[in-house]
Amino acid sequence: MKKLRSAEWFGRTGKDGFIYRSWMKNQGIPAHEFKGKPVIGICNTWSELTPCNAHFRELAESVKHGIYEAGGFPVEFPVMSLGETLMKPTAMLYRNLVSMDVEESIRANPLDGVVLLCGCDKTTPALIMGACSVDLPTIVVSGGAMLTGKYQGRDIATSDVWRFSEAQRSGRMSEEEMNIAEACMSRSRGHCAVMGTASTMAVMAEALGLTLPDNAAIPAADSRRKVLAHLSGMRIVEMVREDLKLSQVLTRDAFDNAIMTNAAIGGSTNFIIHLLAIAGRIGVELSIDDFNTTDLGIPLLANLQPSGRYFMEDLYYAGGIPAVMKELNSFLKKDAVTVSGKPIWENYLNAECFNRDVIASADQPFNPLAGIAVLKGNICKNGAVIKPSAATPGLMKHTGKAVVFENIDDYKLKIDDPALEIDETSIMVLKNVGPKGYPGMPEVGNMAIPKKLLDKGVTDMVRISDGRMSGTGFGTVVLHVSPEAAAGGTLAVIREGDIISLDVEAGTLNVDLSADEIDERKRYLVQFSDFATRGYVYLYQQHVEQAHLGADLDFLKGGSGSEVHKDSH
Ligand code: FES
Repeated sequence: MKKLRSAEWFGRTGKDGFIYRSWMKNQGIPAHEFKGKPVIGICNTWSELTPCNAHFRELAESVKHGIYEAGGFPVEFPVMSLGETLMKPTAMLYRNLVSMDVEESIRANPLDGVVLLCGCDKTTPALIMGACSVDLPTIVVSGGAMLTGKYQGRDIATSDVWRFSEAQRSGRMSEEEMNIAEACMSRSRGHCAVMGTASTMAVMAEALGLTLPDNAAIPAADSRRKVLAHLSGMRIVEMVREDLKLSQVLTRDAFDNAIMTNAAIGGSTNFIIHLLAIAGRIGVELSIDDFNTTDLGIPLLANLQPSGRYFMEDLYYAGGIPAVMKELNSFLKKDAVTVSGKPIWENYLNAECFNRDVIASADQPFNPLAGIAVLKGNICKNGAVIKPSAATPGLMKHTGKAVVFENIDDYKLKIDDPALEIDETSIMVLKNVGPKGYPGMPEVGNMAIPKKLLDKGVTDMVRISDGRMSGTGFGTVVLHVSPEAAAGGTLAVIREGDIISLDVEAGTLNVDLSADEIDERKRYLVQFSDFATRGYVYLYQQHVEQAHLGADLDFLKGGSGSEVHKDSH
């Protein structure tokens, strides 16, 4: 085994070694732990303000048991956590900040390998991004999804929040019923129980080869989640001994596998932005066009909300991600190495599907329409995205008049105004909710349908914005328009009544204006000026890249490795 990185701290003699070890010993750590054992950091996003990750101290204990069993020395450390439901203006604003915390915490400390405890949406990409910029042996353990919610005899989860909200707005559900439903939905530990962004990220980690098999789907409350954490603890010690680094797992093939698996499970559109950012950190060439899976013929296999009917718990009982990947056998890059040290095909070789209602076969898919369609046109020169499986088939090719909201406040003011001139053929356009504009690119792209149209029975309309949509959301919603309005994109100059054409099959999104007309309007455009003047938000707005590049900060691209060049003692 090559010399351990941690030996640069704990293997020293004299004053330096004294300082590095002595203070650690105040935790009751015996001297032999410092003698040549792989030191494994457990990067914990536990927080009571991140309810999806609130059980992570317990999960970390299982990881520690595994590390000890394999002869390692575990050290748990906290990083900033990101609770999707509480953080304002949006947890996404802080993804890059957490990635910096993770990167610097790993590099600065005597660690030989790292276990990343990830759960709620942004915690997974933030931790992987940070770890990529250091590139030590690294394994991901996800927290698992909640058990399926139960309300008045039926199954519910996060996608029902949007349905409940519309039912309340149209008077079909009372405030009291809403209060009962909220307790029924979140009835166990874990993250959102549908194929929202958190579950999508857990699947992404498994398909990238960053986890042991089955990581994505074991429910948080299932004791096998602790077993997986224990085994991951054992495995990371071996990975250090094998010197199996992140960069050996995260090859271009691994990214292709993640993209194909995401299509088959109906994963969140947020997947694109996070995977692009991870690729940027590890140095793999990936562009938004690589996500256009609608042309590859990959079918939707997982019948999971929001694209289908079932929940994460059902996915696990039906065979989990190994069973999904086995169906994708002919599409996958089989030799991509995983953290197990083996190629990915060995992870799903013996997988079985136990319920074809939940995981369909490739021959008889749940929906032939899968994945994400990338759109280009004069509204989105650098791209925009839509999730066809969550959209209304009849609206996938649609031309209509723009109803424009200049920003989120304008939208809130006008949306339920009876005087708003809008009908079901209109196209709703929301500006200034992109990375710079909001800032942080919040999940407001699936704007609510105006109440007067809801009352008429309208359930979907074409909606366009430079923002994102919750992975639990649905509808004919065009997102991530790049360049965003605040960066001077065409979106900024669209006016009320302009004719917009969406054609998902052709991959186009255009406003009926000539290039000269667009240029002319841009000449008179009042430039976006709502910039923060201090602190992290200032840094973010000055340096955030556009959505089609992953919305990372420009100076965080790539990595600085694990070497520490200066020694203070
Ligand atoms: Fe944490 Fe949905 S709010 S995963």
